[in-house]
Amino acid sequence: MLSAADSPPSSHEQLLRWYIEAGVDEAIAEIPTDRYAASRISADSAPASPSVPPPVQVATQPATSAHLAMDCRNLAELRTAMEAYDGCALKRTCQRTVFADGNPAAPVMLIGEAPGADEDRLGLPFVGASGKLLDRMLASIGLDRGSVYITNVVPWRPPGNRKPEPTEIELCLPFVERHIELVAPAILVFLGGAPASALLARQEAISRLRGRWLDYSSSRLARPIPAMPTYHPAYLLRTPLHKRDAWRDFLAIRKRLDAQS
Ligand code: URA
Repeated sequence: MLSAADSPPSSHEQLLRWYIEAGVDEAIAEIPTDRYAASRISADSAPASPSVPPPVQVATQPATSAHLAMDCRNLAELRTAMEAYDGCALKRTCQRTVFADGNPAAPVMLIGEAPGADEDRLGLPFVGASGKLLDRMLASIGLDRGSVYITNVVPWRPPGNRKPEPTEIELCLPFVERHIELVAPAILVFLGGAPASALLARQEAISRLRGRWLDYSSSRLARPIPAMPTYHPAYLLRTPLHKRDAWRDFLAIRKRLDAQS
């Protein structure tokens, strides 16, 4: 209890002691105060320290096949980029990336559609039944795997040997385009409708495109490359009647090679 004689001291410290001795143990205002809310507001509105910049938000996007392919300066880098790429669903069902076979310094580059079961198992293009026919067709004009270079538009086997979907071809296109630029062959041979349509951007059937020299161009090639579309060997195995036309196409390839040498 305070007595009238107990006059309040003057300094703040003395005042506090005086309250405590007088029995005051808490300060209660007329209106309740939410101290938690007050401390949250002051933390949120505190200015950021000038020495700690706010974190930079970088959106990470998976590299596209076009970006990856463009950066490759040689065939080894292209192979590594294709093996590391996981933007194509075919990669999840196939066993390996079928890159190429033959001689990259050869004047002729042949491009097929996609690997089959044998190619997927061995990691090389055209090693199954259609590959055996292709080897005989090449031999008929004096060529073999040492004097040509072979790859496919799609380097991953479509499950069940189905045809690659247009979206799958589109994803793989930058890789095969870069492949052509790096090899820069004297002559291209497109085996079947898939490589012919994709690389020449033409919609006609292979029966209409085959047997004609057409220009393959790309902005990163010094000049267009003469390209000969012809039937795919797997098609010739099913329809041997068309072997006669394919034979003519291969003779035209031989003639052009002889004229260039
Ligand atoms: N068919 C293709 O188009 N490519 C191969 O590698 C094998 C079969």
